[in-house]
Formats: sequence, C-alpha cells, structure tokens
Amino acid sequence: MGKITDALRKAAEERMARLEKLDSKSEVRYQFIAQKTVDSKIDPRIVTFYEPSCPIAEQFRILRTNLLALNAQRPLHIITITSSINGEGKTITSINLAISMAQDLNKKQILLIDADLRRSKVNKYLGFEQEAGLSELITGRINTEDAFVSIGINNLTILSAGKPPQNPAELLGSVKFKNLLNVLKEKYDYIILDSPPVIPVTDAGLIGAQSDGVIMVIQAGRTQRGVVSHAQGLLKQAQAKLLGYILTNIQYHIPAYIYRYL
Ligand SMILES: Nc1ncnc2c1ncn2[C@@H]1O[C@H](COP(=O)(O)OP(=O)(O)OP(=O)(O)O)[C@@H](O)[C@H]1O
Ligand SMILES: [Mg+2]
Repeated sequence: MGKITDALRKAAEERMARLEKLDSKSEVRYQFIAQKTVDSKIDPRIVTFYEPSCPIAEQFRILRTNLLALNAQRPLHIITITSSINGEGKTITSINLAISMAQDLNKKQILLIDADLRRSKVNKYLGFEQEAGLSELITGRINTEDAFVSIGINNLTILSAGKPPQNPAELLGSVKFKNLLNVLKEKYDYIILDSPPVIPVTDAGLIGAQSDGVIMVIQAGRTQRGVVSHAQGLLKQAQAKLLGYILTNIQYHIPAYIYRYL
C-alpha cells in the first residue's frame, strides 16, 4: 500500500538533495500555479497541460509509473481518487493524473469520470459547460455517445457528473453504475474516477468498491492523522482497496535557474 507514497517520498527527497547540493542561496518558492502559456479555458492549476515538464508534472508521471507497476501484479484499470474530507485536492489531482497518463502512455485510452455527483468540478477546471453526464447515463436518460467529451488532449475523454441527482448514493450503489463501468472498461484502458470525500458521505466507498483500487489525497498541514485513519476504516468497510496516498500542499524550494530548465 505504501509503494506510491514511498516512491513519491523517495523521488522528492532525491530531488531536494540534488537541488540543495547545487544551490542553497538563490531559492524561489515553487508555486502550484502554472503560467498560462496557451490560450485555453483550462485552469492554470492543471500543470500537466500547461507545463508537462515541470516538477509537479514529473510527480504525476512518477505516480503513473507506480500505478503501472502495480498493474503488472494485478488488474488496475479503474482507479478512484478520494480524500478524507473536502477540499484536499482530489479533483485537481484526478485531472492531472488523467492528463499525465494520456500524454505518456502510448495510445492508451484514458477516461476521466467526474463521479462527484454532489459538487462536480471537473468541467469547471477544464473550462467547458457540462450538458449531461454520469447521472443521466446511470438513469438512462441519454445515449452513451452524447455524454463523452473530448477537450483536445489526445487519448483523453471526459465524462462529467451531469445534473446533481436527488439520490447520488443510490445511483452510485446501483447495478446500473456497476454495469456501466464494466462496459466502459472494455473501451478504455484506464478509468480515473474523481469522487466526493469519504467521511461526510458514503459515495466514495461505493465508487471505490467498483474500482480496482483507491488513492487517498491528503492535504499536508491540514488533515489530521486520526481523520485519515477514520476514512481508511470507512473505505475498508465498503470493501474498497486502498492503494496508497498522495500528499498535496507540499512546498518546494527550488533554485530559479533549475526550475527554468526542469
Ligand atoms: N497539489 C496541490 N498543492 C496545493 N494545493 C492544491 C493541490 N491540489 C489542489 N490544491 C488546492 O486545493 C483546493 C481544492 O482543490 P480541489 O477542488 O481539487 O479539491 P477537492 O478535494 O476536489 O475538493 P472537493 O472536496 O470540494 O471536491 C484548490 O484551491 C486547489 O488549488
Ligand atoms: Mg472535487
């Protein structure tokens, strides 16, 4: 379970050691916000789109590599991203991971599903209006082909959440959702599901149980250890397999000249 965390930590430690050796004086604080270099409605925090070779995008590549390594041991095609509580960075992480996978995996088809039927944000971060999405697909109100969106990134397809339903947990716990994922699994090589937080609502457990594995995002400096273990217990109860953790809100000190050439 700790493989992804270990790899991320090791890579970060190695990078920091390298950077400290090179220059300890001319430091700039690395910002999560990427510069917008092309005219796009996509949010600047989607660094894998704007700056695929920046250090954070590299962390997403490391994560992708580790997921592939786990995939060699057992099937890992449907991955849920969640967190203990709200606002820890699930959606931004899901989008960056999906883009990184679409960019780096040769011709593998990636589907990013906004399975947060309560507070969907994938389409907002990606700058498009959602017409219909997952909730309509589960309830059978639209044809499958009308729900899938391409935002111009090769090999990446988006399925937005759709109109917020009255009964999100019921939809996500339904056989229809399970069947839909089984159909989509045949068409896409990897499916990333962005989900609501684990503690306030049951949705993530339901989504996680239909996935091959779950990754928990933890916001460093905010989410307490006890809260994380409580969420972990809830995922276990729901029969979701926890693969590992991603820490967000980590700040790097990177010398300016290195950052420019990374
Ligand atoms: N890796 C990161 N480092 C620093 N801040 C981040 C990171 N990822 C996301 N954030 C910040 O965290 C906030 C919440 O991001 P996001 O919407 O992805 O969280 P979420 O967990 O999906 O929230 P919700 O529970 O409302 O769905 C945003 O302000 C975003 O800029
Ligand atoms: Mg979110």
